[in-house]
Amino acid sequence: MFLQESETSTTTRVRRPLTTPDDTESGSAPTSPDSAYRLAVASLQTLAQDIKDLAERAQATLRDPAAHLGAGSGALSDIALASVPRWHFAMLNDTERNSALVSALEGNVPPGAHVLDIGSGTGLLAMAAVRAGAGRVTTCELNPLLAEVARQIIDAHGMSDTITVIGKPSTELEVGKDIDARADVLVSEIVDCGLIGEGLLPSIRHAREHLLAPDGIMLPAAARLYGQLVQSESMARLNRVDMASGFDVSLMNTLATPGHFPVRLNTWPHQMLSGAFPLVEFDLAKGILGPGARTLPVAADTDGLAHALVVWFELDLGATTLCNGPDSKDSHWMQALVPFELPVPVTAGEKVPLRLGWSDYRLNVTVA
Ligand SMILES: C[S@@+](CC[C@H](N)C(=O)[O-])C[C@H]1O[C@@H](n2cnc3c(N)ncnc32)[C@H](O)[C@@H]1O
Repeated sequence: MFLQESETSTTTRVRRPLTTPDDTESGSAPTSPDSAYRLAVASLQTLAQDIKDLAERAQATLRDPAAHLGAGSGALSDIALASVPRWHFAMLNDTERNSALVSALEGNVPPGAHVLDIGSGTGLLAMAAVRAGAGRVTTCELNPLLAEVARQIIDAHGMSDTITVIGKPSTELEVGKDIDARADVLVSEIVDCGLIGEGLLPSIRHAREHLLAPDGIMLPAAARLYGQLVQSESMARLNRVDMASGFDVSLMNTLATPGHFPVRLNTWPHQMLSGAFPLVEFDLAKGILGPGARTLPVAADTDGLAHALVVWFELDLGATTLCNGPDSKDSHWMQALVPFELPVPVTAGEKVPLRLGWSDYRLNVTVA
């Protein structure tokens, strides 16, 4: 059974870094410079509190590692809870996803090749690459706790001699230091419900330039986004509030998620106002992978109020494609909701000039 889940759920697949300069769009502006200043101070206080908590926990753990980090200890699960998203479990149980990625490796890894796997998780793709015939595999994982889990799982499968696990983000890997040569094949599954939310674009951009051989094989090779206009007050309310019990609480909208967030479309009341249409294609092997925007004249086929664009992806994995569209009911990926700032009235037959934008981590939509 699928639950109705908002972007705060730890089973959803959105992990974003702190805001980057090209990523500054947000929900609603604070009401005054004084309000904005006080919110900024409070957000720094929250960050400082998190850092202090973390430092205290780290100190206690280092004083007595065995007591704090033994199997079944509360500290290990506390740290895992804070740093390892719950969606790893749903993802690893998504057999359609696993099979598509494993088949892509089996169909595309030349015998003896050096494979680079970005985002080890449990080491699943690194081990599948060895089984597919890779001579050696380098896998990197930005979360050191997960990297250690991958190391131990890989060791238990007797593959430690062939696979090297590096507990770093791919963007910090250096040829000649972390890996001896550029890889022949690059595999990654760092895709959220809206494709780009886990940093697919900057990670692949960097890896193509620094880590993959010039004629290297890229898996997945390409990805496409599709969308559909949707009317749904209920889904719009997942990330926006104005009045609660007669009080204006709309300042809360300054804390709304900017850009896209995950929704399981079929669990919310909604009405589609257009057919599905292609939004943008990313050629991960050779195309330009920077932030961008495009205007799309979209034909509405029903009168209504468009609250958002529902977005999903299609990933090219050689012989198979992976998709998280509204009909992909078994996929662990939900769909991505990209809300309009204000609802857009549309009439059947009307062409709505949508402006879709994407930064390195977020999708956004306006009417041009
Ligand atoms: C969606 S999981 C996939 C894990 C594994 N590859 C699999 O298919 O089961 C992606 C993992 O990549 C890691 N990750 C994302 N971007 C990364 C990067 N640029 N470098 C290293 N790790 C990254 C995340 O921390 C996460 O554990």
